[in-house]
Amino acid sequence: MTATKGLEGIVAASSSISSIIDGVLTYRGIDIDELAEKATFEEVAYLLWHGKLPTQSELDGLLAQLGEYAAVPEQVIAGLRLYPAGSNSMAALRTVVSSLALYDEEAQDMSREANVRKAVKLQAQLPTVVAAFARIRQGKEPIAPKKGVPIAHNFLYMLTGEEPAAVAVEALNKALVLHADHELNASTFAARVTVATLSDIYSGVTSAIGALKGPLHGGANEAVMVMLDEIGSVANVEPYIQAKLDRKDKVMGFGHRVYKNGDPRAKHLQAMSRQLGELNGDMKLYDMSVKIEDLVTGQKGLKPNVDFYSASCYTMLGIPRDLFTPLFAISRVSGWTAHILEQLADNRLIRPRAEYVGPVGQHYVPIAQRG
Ligand code: ACO
Repeated sequence: MTATKGLEGIVAASSSISSIIDGVLTYRGIDIDELAEKATFEEVAYLLWHGKLPTQSELDGLLAQLGEYAAVPEQVIAGLRLYPAGSNSMAALRTVVSSLALYDEEAQDMSREANVRKAVKLQAQLPTVVAAFARIRQGKEPIAPKKGVPIAHNFLYMLTGEEPAAVAVEALNKALVLHADHELNASTFAARVTVATLSDIYSGVTSAIGALKGPLHGGANEAVMVMLDEIGSVANVEPYIQAKLDRKDKVMGFGHRVYKNGDPRAKHLQAMSRQLGELNGDMKLYDMSVKIEDLVTGQKGLKPNVDFYSASCYTMLGIPRDLFTPLFAISRVSGWTAHILEQLADNRLIRPRAEYVGPVGQHYVPIAQRG
């Protein structure tokens, strides 16, 4: 038995949800480029869960359900108020999602019908939780979700208390579409491993949030913004990035395990970053990002991934940088739950083997004789 480090190239599941073939990403066979231009995030979530785009009445039904489920139990909000100042936003989200199970009477119901309902509940509640977390730590009261408005609109509204501009809603909707699913990425794999033991959907999503938090995965979008803040100006890009490359440090937001010729999502986020810069009359973040890309791609051949331009986009939408990864979770929960449903529809315990590389033939040594 020989292990493959990081399971690179290992096909670990069959799935009909999303595919990456020759660098093209599809959801249920539809090219992400088409969905990014034309679809609402709610249509995409429905597509991921049910394998087809919704009819108008199915979409209306989903919007109504999202509105019905979006409020979070008061006990959960009370819990958020008790978290220590400066709590990590992803640690808080992971804790809240775990606790949501305690207030859902059907949390342990493993029927498909109940699990589909819980997928919609989680999708509805995550934006409310993230916005409430952001407001409570600023000493403000959480804002109740609106009914009948898209998630992109509701999230920005709950975060700021103001009606968001149409252009901001459109941009955020596109970002949510682009992040919704991505085949067997680390967090989705974690979700599938968890529910394959026949554990519940809340456990699966809690595992996934834990996996997404790391800077090699979803945490990279926040790390990109930390880097942009540290660089501070277009003039400082070259010395900063050159020093990083000379030290052989990783530049966050570049590289990908699967895409070697570029992440198909990145171009949409780059275009969005440019448009938001033009609208805001401030191109600094976009110009810095382009210069970083020129240097990293030029010298290392590495292309930007989904996280790179999302950092400047989210900042220009007024979203605090430590909410970038929770925002990723708000989108990806659609994909996680679709994968959980798929895993449970034809389940088998996921239990690989390890290549043992430790010592052999050892014996128990009494404690007095140990050196
Ligand atoms: N900056 C500089 N060098 C890099 C980078 C980077 N961002 N990414 C990879 N490399 C280099 C590595 O140092 C390594 O070089 P070496 O062979 O000389 O040691 C080589 O490219 C291969 O890199 P690995 O880390 O082995 O590639 P792997 O497939 O394991 O990792 C990953 C992929 C984690 C995305 C990696 O490219 C990385 O760490 N990128 C930065 C973090 C990031 O942006 N993560 C988000 C990914 S997208 C997502 O999850 C949503």
